Amino acid sequence: MKITAFVGSPRDGNTKNLTEHALDAAKAAGAETQLIHIGKMSIAPCKACDACKKAGRCIIEDDFQEAEKSLAEAGGIIFASPVYFGTVTAQMKAFMDRTRTLRRKGVLKDKVGGAIAVGASRNGGQETTIRQIHNFFFIQEMAVVSDTKTAHYGGTGVGVAPADAASDEIGIETAKNLGTHVAELTKKLIK
Ligand SMILES: Cc1cc2nc3c(=O)[nH]c(=O)nc-3n(C[C@H](O)[C@H](O)[C@H](O)COP(=O)(O)O)c2cc1C
Repeated sequence: MKITAFVGSPRDGNTKNLTEHALDAAKAAGAETQLIHIGKMSIAPCKACDACKKAGRCIIEDDFQEAEKSLAEAGGIIFASPVYFGTVTAQMKAFMDRTRTLRRKGVLKDKVGGAIAVGASRNGGQETTIRQIHNFFFIQEMAVVSDTKTAHYGGTGVGVAPADAASDEIGIETAKNLGTHVAELTKKLIK
């Protein structure tokens, strides 16, 4: 059972920190884990060339292919993003849009998905950002899970400077609960 997390921040900061907590919890629940830092990779936005409709794959050659392979191999998937203007980062959105052929082929269907969002304000758009990630999971026909009894929607953190989330006890707890829940359902669904 493999759980892979995709971090959409362009820096080593709060989102990566909470994601590591989520993966540690998934590991404790029996999962093999991997973190892919897509925010630091070179993934261009979709240019709507529609070549993927014929080719069956995105024809833009960059770091996307490596990240796509990890997405396809995972049983459980965590998408983690800082809040940028109430939604995911441009880096994460570019990654989502490039997975169009995976949706057409049903590659992510019935995989388990959980979301993490970190903003500078306590109510700075974490829930709207998580909603954006959940929309992606729904459209990919995935099974969406929460962080259960803490924030309900997923890992939800607060931080301004990159190290702030390291002391966000509430955020850390939501991330751990999310990681555990993703692993538990993945274990039930994927043998
Ligand atoms: C372009 C930009 C837009 C941002 N928009 C928001 C926002 O709408 N709400 C919020 O609470 N924080 C916002 N922030 C702050 C980041 O979400 C916050 O600093 C977060 O901890 C960054 O995560 P990281 O350390 O993983 O990069 C914004 C930051 C940037 C750079």
